[in-house]
Amino acid sequence: MSTVVLIGTQWGDEGKGKVTDFLAERADVIVRYQGGNNAGHTVVVDDKEYKLHLIPSGILYRDKTCIIGSGVVIDPAVLIEELKSLEDRGISTENLKISQRAHVIFPYHKLLDQAEEKSKGSKKIGTTSRGIGPAYMDKAARVGIRMLELIDQDELTSLLEENVLGKNRILNKVFDSEGTDYQAVLESYQSYAETLKRYVADVSLIVNGVIEEGKNVLFEGAQGTLLDLDHGTYPYVTSSNPTAGAACLGAGVGPTKIDRVIGIAKAYTTRVGEGPFPTELFDEVGAFIQEQGGEFGTTTGRPRRCGWFDGVIGRYAVRINGLNYLAITKLDVLSRLEKVKICTGYRYHDDIIKDFPASLKVLSECEPVYEELPGWQEDITNTGKLEDLPFNARKYLERVSEVAGAPIAIIGVGSKRSQTIVTSDL
Ligand code: IMP
Repeated sequence: MSTVVLIGTQWGDEGKGKVTDFLAERADVIVRYQGGNNAGHTVVVDDKEYKLHLIPSGILYRDKTCIIGSGVVIDPAVLIEELKSLEDRGISTENLKISQRAHVIFPYHKLLDQAEEKSKGSKKIGTTSRGIGPAYMDKAARVGIRMLELIDQDELTSLLEENVLGKNRILNKVFDSEGTDYQAVLESYQSYAETLKRYVADVSLIVNGVIEEGKNVLFEGAQGTLLDLDHGTYPYVTSSNPTAGAACLGAGVGPTKIDRVIGIAKAYTTRVGEGPFPTELFDEVGAFIQEQGGEFGTTTGRPRRCGWFDGVIGRYAVRINGLNYLAITKLDVLSRLEKVKICTGYRYHDDIIKDFPASLKVLSECEPVYEELPGWQEDITNTGKLEDLPFNARKYLERVSEVAGAPIAIIGVGSKRSQTIVTSDL
């Protein structure tokens, strides 16, 4: 396996948790490299469900080192809650390491996130309200507070005071809303620091060291390609880079250290939040997919918008991330549909567009061009081999792979670890 980057190819929620968990078995070290607790992974092991937001799902294996890289923004209260819930269920968190360079989310980031969304009215992004955007804004503005400073009493005290004062001015004067109380925030964050300091480390040193030793490293991205700040459907994106290139930045390794990139796609498409979505379904098929797929957010519980597999997006993700393989998840959700459709291009006025456009105005005027294939009625949730899938399901996968332009290495047919078909040597 060596070093593998695993990313989402759509708008997030592609079932990365399950594939990460599956690949984590072969990895020695698992690194989460961007995003924050806007993400949510659900992993099912031995019929027990684990919902993780910040900690890589590799933590469920006792002998793996799990790393939260410098590209991640950390809400310490959420992280501590997650650590506690794992420990309460008998899962050790001893092997977790957190980058000293990762930025910290404070209560004022959440207040600013909510105030900014409210002020945008109908133009709101539909954020998760977790303070993600404002935390990355502070990072870029060079006023953020990192884990390193969080665990240093003196640094925290002075940096936090400046930040609380500055953010309160914005909250009061620009948004006409309440700010935060410096002393109360300081006290709670001092206590978080006490709990978290034993995990804080120079993770770039660790990751490069294990690569040097020839160990297997899995870099897991959160969200998906179309939520990427540079390459996604801007401004309806998150404030980090979920694409493969960011794995190097967010973990502190060079591009020469990455062997393979795998992109995860659902057998259909979903999206939460606002913004154009060409293959979105508003009919009973969309409702069927939403119900069968349990398409409600792990983090916010919001219903996800559902639609057909979009091959234009698939091709785009292959290009932007340099994908070697695709992993197709939730194929079982499409079982029992009479017909299944794949979008192969967009009709835009008199043209057919094959490449995903940068302009949202163009995207919102695009009509999907579909290829229709016969569905399959069989239950595929216990299928262990590609050859045992119904003929029509195999044909569907073949077309998905051809249209997107990458071979399929993994197929998910259910939520459990065991419900996974592997077709390539990873
Ligand atoms: P933010 O990341 O909370 O700032 O939200 C920005 C956009 O990204 C919104 O449309 C969110 O719904 C979306 N988003 C953020 N994280 C996820 C995720 O893990 N899955 C799906 N959508 C996400």
